[in-house]
Amino acid sequence: MNRFKYPHLFEPLKLRGTLFRNRIFAAPTGYRNMTYDSVWPLEAGDYYGRKALGGAASVATGELVVDTEFGRGSLNHICIDNPQSLMPLEKIAKAISRYGAVPTAELQHAGMYANRDLSVFGATSRGVAYGPIELELDGRIIREMPEEIIERTIEKYAAAAAAAKNYGFGMILIHAGHGWLLQQFLSPQLNRRKDKWGGPAIENRARFAVAVCEAVRKAVGPNFPIEIRISTSEGYDGGYDIEEGIAFAKQLEEYVDLINASVGSHEVQEAFSVMTPSMFLGDGCNVKYAAEIKKHVKTPIAAIGALGEPEMLEEIIASGKADVV
Ligand SMILES: Cc1cc2nc3c(=O)[nH]c(=O)nc-3n(C[C@H](O)[C@H](O)[C@H](O)COP(=O)(O)O)c2cc1C
Repeated sequence: MNRFKYPHLFEPLKLRGTLFRNRIFAAPTGYRNMTYDSVWPLEAGDYYGRKALGGAASVATGELVVDTEFGRGSLNHICIDNPQSLMPLEKIAKAISRYGAVPTAELQHAGMYANRDLSVFGATSRGVAYGPIELELDGRIIREMPEEIIERTIEKYAAAAAAAKNYGFGMILIHAGHGWLLQQFLSPQLNRRKDKWGGPAIENRARFAVAVCEAVRKAVGPNFPIEIRISTSEGYDGGYDIEEGIAFAKQLEEYVDLINASVGSHEVQEAFSVMTPSMFLGDGCNVKYAAEIKKHVKTPIAAIGALGEPEMLEEIIASGKADVV
């Protein structure tokens, strides 16, 4: 790819105090090779470093769980509050920045899907999980998250963001989509709480995510970029649609510098195949969600999903459908 042929794609972008060399941000993907106790080996740095070497302006890690005790969905989840994660995460941040990209740490909490299967060598262990309301899921009772655990979780996000900054990461990516905790609270189908953290009003259902953004902002300071990944639409019957996605995005504007406009949920089959578009969907099939959000907010927007050909990427940026791909 060359900057003269694709001038919009290679135009630098400044978010807070950080200059990104172009508009191509490597989407978060988890590195699947890990030790049996869920710590990344030092070679994980090579995997992420290669994306930076390839020319991306930002390279995001996969999901880093902020709370080992209540936030971990599976053994494939790395926990950032585990002291053993420090060394590999520092290595990853260095491996990315040495090739000129900004290392981005994605922070996540599995909510009601936490502790569902932490089996090691066939021995299954299922622990406590909290979601917006009490419900039964796959034969297990999910507890309604009490106020003190909500507050604890917000603090965990802030601590994780401070740690990531300390380890050498240059941007925080808050994962508020794909069916994880913050989206569970946003979902009208799941969040039928009666307190200020839920119910019919989108302001209430968005309160948890907004509080997390606010706490992360305080933890990293005013000069540090924050990205948030949202599902702009849940993509299944009974889930919220783009109208609520827009309302959510508007509430985030004050705290974040980039809204990553994803879609769907990995817990619902029909929504999963849109979230990670199947080969039966066209190239750029989810750009329309980013473009719709962009009409309503001033914050830069990232489009994601089935994006590959540089001509298409250039057109997305040039036509103003999104600011980042
Ligand atoms: C192997 C793999 C791992 C992924 N891991 C994550 C992850 O850790 N966090 C996340 O937010 N999305 C994750 N995703 C979703 C991608 O970031 C992206 O949103 C999705 O794959 C759609 O983009 P694509 O069509 O380019 O694959 C993963 C996707 C794949 C294929």
